[in-house]
Amino acid sequence: MNEIVGKMNAVDRTNPREILSAALDHFDSKVALSMSFQVGGCVMLDMINQMGREVDVVSLDTGRLPEETYECAEEILRRYGIEIKWVHPRHEVVESMIREKGMFSFRENVENRKECCGIRKVEPLVRALEPYDAWITGRRVDQSKMRSELSLVEEDPAHPGKIKVNPILHWTVGDLWEYVHEHHVPYNRLYDEGYLSIGCECCTRPCVGGEDERAGRWWGEGDDHKECGLHIGGSGI
Ligand code: ADX
Ligand code: SF4
Repeated sequence: MNEIVGKMNAVDRTNPREILSAALDHFDSKVALSMSFQVGGCVMLDMINQMGREVDVVSLDTGRLPEETYECAEEILRRYGIEIKWVHPRHEVVESMIREKGMFSFRENVENRKECCGIRKVEPLVRALEPYDAWITGRRVDQSKMRSELSLVEEDPAHPGKIKVNPILHWTVGDLWEYVHEHHVPYNRLYDEGYLSIGCECCTRPCVGGEDERAGRWWGEGDDHKECGLHIGGSGI
């Protein structure tokens, strides 16, 4: 951790290209870009491509993603000629949850919602990250109050021994869209329908009237719960 922290202290913390480049230099093929095909991930992949670099792309197919997300993934795959390492939930565990609690258990209470996220996202991410020492995420400080104190590089208590890098931490949503339009980056069409943050189809809605970016995720829950469990704790710079 100290070594990568030292390297990151030498880069411009507001320049995702510099941060990505330092992360790729340091971790080489042992770092993955974890993509949910939201705008931040698409921008970072384009930057990596423009730098003439490569990175493994991993994505969790929860089984309940919107069509538009799969379409965006296919467009990205064609545009950059990359492979996407899709990781799926363990089918026997999904089957048993559905058998016991039905197709929409996550609507009933936060506990069930977290169980579903645990099965469809959290456990698959552990498998997705197995080959890597580090992973790159698209989290930003301007996304929510809970994310306002994130670090650029963090130890990841959810995946002990692994490091998490957040290259667009200090970019705003406006910075991202400016980049998308300037470089013609493929993006998820749901953004054109008022969505500001995009996860599973059944747990995401468009935002209205100046709502926060993450207001359309698990909207029945208080702000304290608005994380699916992929990202917990962490200390870093
Ligand atoms: S979440 O915790 O609420 O789901 P969010 O949708 O904001 O997170 O995404 C934050 C980052 O988590 C993404 O930029 C991406 O790195 C990672 N992530 C979230 N969902 C997925 C997914 N389905 N597959 C891969 N990475 C994901
Ligand atoms: Fe399940 Fe909703 Fe979590 Fe997706 S976001 S894994 S459908 S609870």
